Amino acid sequence: MTEVILLKLGGSVITHKHDSPPRLAINNVRRIAKELQGVSSPMIVVLGGGAHGHQAAHSFGYGNPTTPSTKLIAGIPQIRRNMTELSSSIEHIFSQNGINSVVIPPFASTFLNDGEIISFSLSIMERTIESGINVITHGDVCYDLQRGAAILSGDTVITYLAHSMHPKRILIGTDVDGIFDGNPRNNPHAKVVPRIDSSNREQILSQVESSSAIDVTGGMLKKVQELLSIQGGNIESIIFNLTVPGRLERLINGKSVICTKVLSR
Ligand code: IPE
Repeated sequence: MTEVILLKLGGSVITHKHDSPPRLAINNVRRIAKELQGVSSPMIVVLGGGAHGHQAAHSFGYGNPTTPSTKLIAGIPQIRRNMTELSSSIEHIFSQNGINSVVIPPFASTFLNDGEIISFSLSIMERTIESGINVITHGDVCYDLQRGAAILSGDTVITYLAHSMHPKRILIGTDVDGIFDGNPRNNPHAKVVPRIDSSNREQILSQVESSSAIDVTGGMLKKVQELLSIQGGNIESIIFNLTVPGRLERLINGKSVICTKVLSR
């Protein structure tokens, strides 16, 4: 199968994460679409939930282990509506920029068990890529055998696709420069770690964990753990700052930017 580029667009870059009702960060999305215009390889673009996903999920008690499954299930329509709106706005902006894509939502073909994927259909995505059309997918709400329903994060989707599709490149766009060796919000000496591999992963993971009091780094720990767990060994994922114009385009063209490269074990 054709070698794909797997690209995560972090929710804090493509939405105004603190705005309620949720709002698309339209200027960022337009710029990202322009940076992707020259890409010749097929792409699977995975959207984070940002304001559209997280606010609705939170209001129905996702993230709280004591929420009854009836309440989680009652939240499915609203979370799905928000993610459909987000993904279709992005598909539209991509198409205005000459990038043909279709949205394939995980909800329609995925089952989870206690938050882990137990079935996820790849065949439509593979067929779409083979047909020369790019795929947009996203973090989503999905039925979960134990909990009733659960949130599947975009990072878990990336990890799953990386296992199965042997991508040419895995790019994780966030609103920070990479993984820091301290908390950049309160430590002015914190620096971006250029590479995480078997030689430094334990040390770096413990530092990321120790600064997990803030949401961004807490999320980062899970992200790095997922990327390190991609099976097959030596699969490189790049965590970079998608809010800085030009960095995505440079990475697509194989040029260097400030970032963290994560090598799976
Ligand atoms: C969350 O996906 C999806 C939903 C809440 C429906 P992510 O966890 O990947 O989203 P971001 O990138 O952190 O916003």
